[in-house]
Amino acid sequence: MEGQKKHFNVREIREQFPALRRLIYGKNLIYFDNGATSQKPQMVLDAINMYYSKDNANIHRGVHYMSQKATTGFEDARQIIQKYINANKSEEIIFTKGTTDSINLVAFSFGQLLNAGDEVIISAMEHHSNIVPWQMMCERRGCILKIAPINKKGELIMADFEALLNSKTKLVSITHISNTLGTINPIKEITQKAHAVGAKVLIDGAQSIQHMKIDVKDIDCDFFAFSSHKVFGPTGVGVLYGKEAILEKMPPYQGGGDMIAKVTFEKTTYNELPFKFEAGTPHIAGVICLGKAIEFLSQFDIEAVQKHEHDLMEYAQDMLSTFEGVNIIGEAKKKTSVVSFTVDGIHPFDIGTLLDKQGIAVRTGHHCTQPLMDFYKIPGTIRASFAFYNTKEEIDTFIEAVEKSINMLK
Ligand code: ALA
Repeated sequence: MEGQKKHFNVREIREQFPALRRLIYGKNLIYFDNGATSQKPQMVLDAINMYYSKDNANIHRGVHYMSQKATTGFEDARQIIQKYINANKSEEIIFTKGTTDSINLVAFSFGQLLNAGDEVIISAMEHHSNIVPWQMMCERRGCILKIAPINKKGELIMADFEALLNSKTKLVSITHISNTLGTINPIKEITQKAHAVGAKVLIDGAQSIQHMKIDVKDIDCDFFAFSSHKVFGPTGVGVLYGKEAILEKMPPYQGGGDMIAKVTFEKTTYNELPFKFEAGTPHIAGVICLGKAIEFLSQFDIEAVQKHEHDLMEYAQDMLSTFEGVNIIGEAKKKTSVVSFTVDGIHPFDIGTLLDKQGIAVRTGHHCTQPLMDFYKIPGTIRASFAFYNTKEEIDTFIEAVEKSINMLK
């Protein structure tokens, strides 16, 4: 993973993604729905095939060759991820079903350590998966959920966030990059401010891990959650990073095989980290292939990836802004990879449907951020979200298709 990085060449990168070569209604696919899920490189597809054709066995349980091989692949992936996000120890990497599962794990388990009257802060731009688990936890534990407001550009209002912090604040849970607006939140500063009042910090990294360097030690966050499928790996698997000292204090989330040290009908004792939080047979192939996806991404200079995606976003946004009746939703000074917009008098769904017929995949609707839609007083947006395999030429075609669609619907 370390050492010489490959020169960033979008043509060569595209060749690694078979799905990008397919035709949709006879047109070349333009895949701009990377915020929902990313496409998979050949290396990951081969690894899925290899695992199920040759190495399929359960982990941590068998003395036989295949079980040992699967266990080694699974634990190697943990180390790949530990190094990639610069965690102290591989024990701090817990495999989950995805970002949503990781956040639910913290809400349940860390939530058990909270008392009535304790406070949790989230922001107004959160995905439902970083809202609802906290509402459920607060209801269970008698805690109070506070919402840090944003301005019309879609930026967190730092002074208002700071005003919410006090000695009762036990956790701040915030997205690194908004899936709807593309806003990049100042997570290091947020973490420092939260720590100053003794609160822990969870960063929802679902929309950042694929776009920028993540260094959990540098951020100093207590938890960092992300999904495999948004970072070019399989669906149904994700990661929760947690600082060892905090994870040690937290009770298990689910009971079952693998998370125990000793079970009797009278009393059960729990396994050590990270297994305490990994009950049952996990998504073994998913974890191994997430490791491959991270290895794939690690070949490239992540700063070159970030610059390419930022250029795409600015290019698309500048062109869309020139259209009459088009409103860009989310104009933060620091944003990346996402352009969300509405068109006066036209429902986002109608534009999305016409774009689809032209081979262009975008997401339309509320993007699982209904409170954010209420803030902007809109039913939804059309969202183009980019990955490092997208090109300016694709954006040119997309812009023409948007113009054509608007003209047809007017
Ligand atoms: N959270 C994903 C999105 O933004 C599904 O599309």
